[in-house]
Amino acid sequence: MTATTTTTTPNPDPSGSPGLSKPVGDPPLLEVRNLTVTYGGGADAVPAVRGVDLRVEAGQKLGIAGESGCGKSTLALALLRLLPATATLSGEILLDGEDVLTMKWGRLRAVRWAGASIVFQGAMHSLNAVHRVGDQIAEPILLHSKSTPAAARRRAGELLEQVGLPAARAQAYPHELSGGQRQRVMIAMALACDPRLIVADEPTTALDVMIQAQILRLIEALVADQGVGLIMISHDLAVLADTCDRLSVMYAGRVVEEGPARQVYADARHPYGRALSAAFPRIGDLSSRHAPRGLPGDPPDPSALPGGCTFHPRCPVALDSCATEDQELRDAGAERRAACVLVDAPVPAGADDTRSTT
Ligand SMILES: Nc1ncnc2c1ncn2[C@@H]1O[C@H](COP(=O)(O)OP(=O)(O)OP(=O)(O)O)[C@@H](O)[C@H]1O
Ligand SMILES: [Mg+2]
Repeated sequence: MTATTTTTTPNPDPSGSPGLSKPVGDPPLLEVRNLTVTYGGGADAVPAVRGVDLRVEAGQKLGIAGESGCGKSTLALALLRLLPATATLSGEILLDGEDVLTMKWGRLRAVRWAGASIVFQGAMHSLNAVHRVGDQIAEPILLHSKSTPAAARRRAGELLEQVGLPAARAQAYPHELSGGQRQRVMIAMALACDPRLIVADEPTTALDVMIQAQILRLIEALVADQGVGLIMISHDLAVLADTCDRLSVMYAGRVVEEGPARQVYADARHPYGRALSAAFPRIGDLSSRHAPRGLPGDPPDPSALPGGCTFHPRCPVALDSCATEDQELRDAGAERRAACVLVDAPVPAGADDTRSTT
């Protein structure tokens, strides 16, 4: 991974969020400014993240939504410089005001786990099959604190209880646990070094709805009790609207809409946000059960992005100018922004119906 910092336009509040009251001059827990990530180079370059701004305060839950391939995991991995060496980054990732992209390795090691930790996508399969889960939770504690092995094992037991598992399950091997239990172990690992920020990349996607709800409530309770910041990534807008305070919707490597989570879900201002929201049936909405909505086509290949607004080839309300004019995020109501030329215009009746005929 190559990290190059660039001069970025100062943006006092890229999220447009009102912010929590705190001393003037105190930096937010996380502020991402104009982040770009490109895999490879030359003709094969893949611009996976293109100029993203984010802001998370302590105790705040930010959801990041978007279809497969829109850059969500790349963004998550970039936050702790966990990307492969083929990735080039620019911009700023300020954790408590300190730029992750320019940190020396020693400092970065300390910040991983203790500053911020990640529950990885597909985490259920990333536990080591031949080690007891308690030892796997104790490992970062031993590495990042002066704990003795006995104290680290005790702490691992406490963490398991915190995520709703008996401390005795520390003796189990991963294959002896259910999928939901393994995901709880992964969350216990993420909490091991008392991080200030947790990034959860699709933490519940592979779980059934009952376990999914339990894990989401668990994450919510942990965030509330410990005042940590949370970034939750999912393609499921409904889950994010239910769990998070704010929502950023990504398309083709960019944030195209952001705002209070429930408002974005219920009344998106960008046609992509509306399509994503309409893709999930609402409780009590029989029409959506009988005729599920969807968005025709696929997101663009990042290495061959269309000109103008990258969403225009799929957009049901695109204007001729959308094929040539790129759109930046603009104000779209209180605490809301959207990257669409039509933000200020009413949506023509029926023009935005993304009901799939397939
Ligand atoms: N190591 C890599 N090398 C080259 N390209 C990559 C690499 N990892 C991801 N990409 C590309 O970057 C783009 C964004 O991928 P990313 O995994 O961030 O998407 P995502 O939004 O997390 O998708 P999903 O919802 O499927 O997890 C995709 O086009 C993907 O093919
Ligand atoms: Mg992903």
